[in-house]
Amino acid sequence: LITPVILAGGIGSRLWPLSRQAMPKQFLPLLSENTSLLQSTLARVSGNQFSNAILVCNEQHRFIAAEQSEQARPQAILLEPQGKNTAPAIALAAYYALQNGITGPMLVMPADHHIEDFNKLIKQLKSAAELAIQGKIVTFAITPTGPHTGYGYIKQGAAITNTGCFDVAQFKEKPNLDTATRYLAQGGYSWNSGMFLFTPTVYLKELARFAPKIATSVEQAAKFTKDLGFTRPHKSALESCPNDSIDYAILERSNNVVVMPVDLKWSDVGSFSSLDRLTKKDENGNSLNANYMAQKSTNNLVINEAEHTIATLGVSDLAIIHTHDATLIASQHELDSLPLLLKQIATTQ
Ligand code: GDD
Ligand code: MG
Repeated sequence: LITPVILAGGIGSRLWPLSRQAMPKQFLPLLSENTSLLQSTLARVSGNQFSNAILVCNEQHRFIAAEQSEQARPQAILLEPQGKNTAPAIALAAYYALQNGITGPMLVMPADHHIEDFNKLIKQLKSAAELAIQGKIVTFAITPTGPHTGYGYIKQGAAITNTGCFDVAQFKEKPNLDTATRYLAQGGYSWNSGMFLFTPTVYLKELARFAPKIATSVEQAAKFTKDLGFTRPHKSALESCPNDSIDYAILERSNNVVVMPVDLKWSDVGSFSSLDRLTKKDENGNSLNANYMAQKSTNNLVINEAEHTIATLGVSDLAIIHTHDATLIASQHELDSLPLLLKQIATTQ
């Protein structure tokens, strides 16, 4: 059995004002009427090759996480007092697993991806699991469609016979635009999907080697207390834990990483441009939305959470995001600067 570990502790700030600190994107039904991204993620790993999931999220979101995962019955909801990024979050899950007798592979998954044909990955999991049991960290690679700077880039090395996997010749997290463009021109690079397969022991060993401070902090924090449906680590040990992602802390440095290409319709629902690609459009590229009317307008992404009407005349390439207490009107070409705007809002409110 493979143990799913679902990471649901991000904030989703690049989707403001849809995604808020109190209600981040993974808990929102962004792509369907009534299923949140987290619920879709849990549904992907409900088959009988998986045991019940370990969910790792922030203390602040415990009730919404519990409510949304009720049907999927996770074996644990691990609560972080504060997010320290993915390297510590996965380490908590690894300790929890070992303490509960789980030594087999864990499939680590972000809670905020849109994947249409996950069955393709499930079909390849057996072979990936064998490599994980042999001590490898398995990454899953997606064919890139452009020089996106928000992803990790994996350069494929030699094939590992009869596994569908390859050695990783290089792993580069979030390269700048020039570098990403060069990688694509050069060929042989793919995107890191953000899903990983490894055993808890192997992960903790690599962590101790490449991020010893995180390893020590999490080891101390991994004295869990259970209360109702929630599992909490020791709070003060985590306060001093460095903040880092698995990508920077381990994948860029370890020689133990292999890659399995998967042909998925995959998207990290991380920003309005990715949301834009996933929403239905009229023939002029404007969002199809009952409360939105457009004349002489093209390529506008309009998300309207209110009852009232939004209408545009003679404008193009806008993102208009209207919620009950905040409205964003932005040029789609400037969305990379959304964090700047958020900083300004945070300091003035
Ligand atoms: N529990 C917990 N705690 N979860 C977290 C934390 C944390 O402190 N920080 C982030 N997460 C969750 C997010 O909610 C998300 O589901 C997942 O971990 C990945 O974090 P992101 O912040 O979305 O990472 P990213 O998209 O910038 O980059 C990663 O994913 C890309 C693919 O989507 C990297 O792995 C890249 O290499 C990869 O290409
Ligand atoms: Mg992401």
